[in-house]
Amino acid sequence: MKKTLIVGNWKMHLNTQQASLLVRRLGERVPQHRDIETVLAPSMLTLQPISLEVDRRKFRLAAQNANAQDLGSLTGEVSFAMLSGLVHYGIIGHSERRKYFAETNKDVRAKVAAAVRNEITPIICVGETRVERTNHETKQVVREQVVTALRDLTGPEAAEVVIAYEPVWAIGAGRPASAAAITEVVAYIRLIIEGQFGKNVADAVRILYGGSVEPDFVANILSIDGVDGFLVGGASLNYQQFADIVTKAHQLAAAKEQHA
Ligand code: 13P
Repeated sequence: MKKTLIVGNWKMHLNTQQASLLVRRLGERVPQHRDIETVLAPSMLTLQPISLEVDRRKFRLAAQNANAQDLGSLTGEVSFAMLSGLVHYGIIGHSERRKYFAETNKDVRAKVAAAVRNEITPIICVGETRVERTNHETKQVVREQVVTALRDLTGPEAAEVVIAYEPVWAIGAGRPASAAAITEVVAYIRLIIEGQFGKNVADAVRILYGGSVEPDFVANILSIDGVDGFLVGGASLNYQQFADIVTKAHQLAAAKEQHA
């Protein structure tokens, strides 16, 4: 059985001291679970100090972004090559990067290739805006995002990636997308990957849901077929809420295992 993957995206929040405090508090509240993989994505600035403090049996680290080139005259940038060994995962193509930093599917494709080349597992964010949903363009948008992102990968490489379905309209909205909406798009993402790489790869890829995830919604969303975990924003900054999300996911995984 796949482990449930829970990723906390801290976005541009928490200075070094605050980040360190959050890690300590989470460490006290989150035990090591066999069935859960918990990942923290602090800012680029705090990744290094956090890597020295964090209990690696409980938490893995993710970068929120990085440059697609391994090195070069690119003032202000950090590459996946530099992050190699420091993080397990790299979040790529978050809707905020697409919106505020004009990242295109082509950029995402290059970053996915860079991450894989540097032994970092990409967490590829896809999802439609409200306007796209209203215009019935969800499938077309998600298809283009997924197909392009994975284009440079071999089957075995694609099998390792994580896709985060984050409908843009559900981010920070206080209420996640409906189970019906999540079910439909997650199934569609697997279908796309099956077309690209075959059924084994499609089944192996882990698909997360992101957008207003809070402890109360955990059981409902994790019961959806094909959802393997969460990409959490706001609630990951609150140690009680994030620890609660992990606990609820663990309870659900344990119950599922008993029934299996
Ligand atoms: P919220 O959980 O705050 O809606 O953010 C979701 C998100 O963007 C995670 O990457």
